[in-house]
Amino acid sequence: MTQLKTAVANLRQGGSVLAEAVMRGNLKTLATMLGPAYRGFILQRAKREESTPIEVGYTSRFDWHYRRNFPEMAKLYEAAKSGQWNASKDVDWSIDVDPMDTDKALMPFDYFPLFDMPGFTALSERERATQLHGLMAWMLSQFLHGEQGALFAAAQVTECIDGLDGKLFGSTQVVDEGRHVEVFHRYLTEKLQKWYPVNDNLYVILDALMSDSRWDIKFLGMQILVEGLALGAFGTIRTGTKEPLIKEILKYVITDEARHVHYGVLALRDFYLNQLSEHERREREDWTCEIVALMRNRFLAHEFYEEYWAHAMSRAEWDRIANESKIMDVFRVTMFKRIIPNLKRIGLLSDRVRPHYEKMGLLRFEVGKSAPELTASDLLSDA
Ligand SMILES: [Fe+2]
Ligand SMILES: [Fe+2]
Repeated sequence: MTQLKTAVANLRQGGSVLAEAVMRGNLKTLATMLGPAYRGFILQRAKREESTPIEVGYTSRFDWHYRRNFPEMAKLYEAAKSGQWNASKDVDWSIDVDPMDTDKALMPFDYFPLFDMPGFTALSERERATQLHGLMAWMLSQFLHGEQGALFAAAQVTECIDGLDGKLFGSTQVVDEGRHVEVFHRYLTEKLQKWYPVNDNLYVILDALMSDSRWDIKFLGMQILVEGLALGAFGTIRTGTKEPLIKEILKYVITDEARHVHYGVLALRDFYLNQLSEHERREREDWTCEIVALMRNRFLAHEFYEEYWAHAMSRAEWDRIANESKIMDVFRVTMFKRIIPNLKRIGLLSDRVRPHYEKMGLLRFEVGKSAPELTASDLLSDA
């Protein structure tokens, strides 16, 4: 009975995501998202279980000719091999991290959604630093969970992609993502000594792209969208933090992620522009629209809110404040100025879906640089 009650309460909170999808008329997309949404929003499996099994049903592809016929991809593979780093040796783990040290603040006070509200300003400096520590741990925990998803997705796309050059590059991404899991896990456990479970919205996206049998949806979901989300968040934190260790870690990680986005654009460009039927391309457009809506409106640190603010304000009030906060604004700009040009590059920003993006205020980013012209130094200059 308690379980049913919790499920109904979760449905009330997660259900608005589904209602928005219905309003956009994306019923087919909605159907593919129902399983992940049920497992994520309603059952909240990832919060109740130590490990969650997800059935995957996709087709692996062997290549018996071993043809190296994709020079752009081969170049990226070379760059990936020379760009490897060792998370335990190249990062200076001797740096002490003290979340209470305001000279090396984990993030600026005005990044905090409630920074100018009496409930926050009335707190002592130490209490405010404690909250920033919590929020930083929440964000980095989501990176950690996202990186675990990226590790699995990289393994899947390596199996699925056609051609040896793509498979060889994929093998480097598997190693990269493993290293990212290592580095965020170590920072959270050794340095911040606090971490949070996976956010429901992130879980739904990860579940949706893991369980989808279409190889290109894995690329689209992970390499273009989730990697874009991660780059937005990495850039936002790197800009604001004065803590030298996380700054250093993010520099390494951003450099790797730039290659991964590039990989996604290379793998999808020709397939979406020249091989898919119009009907299939539209399905991808609708799917993308829903994931973008989730990414734009839903990463509101609810797990953090429940720990520190649920007693003081309703979740709706928290959502409104968080959505209008400076940190969300910086994060959205950093994220979408990289994602939207990439969507355009692979042909998923047609006139049919432009009004949805316009409504979300995202079309202004379409003129930005896309991969492959977009380089790691562009991404680091965001940060
Ligand atoms: Fe990663
Ligand atoms: Fe990645």
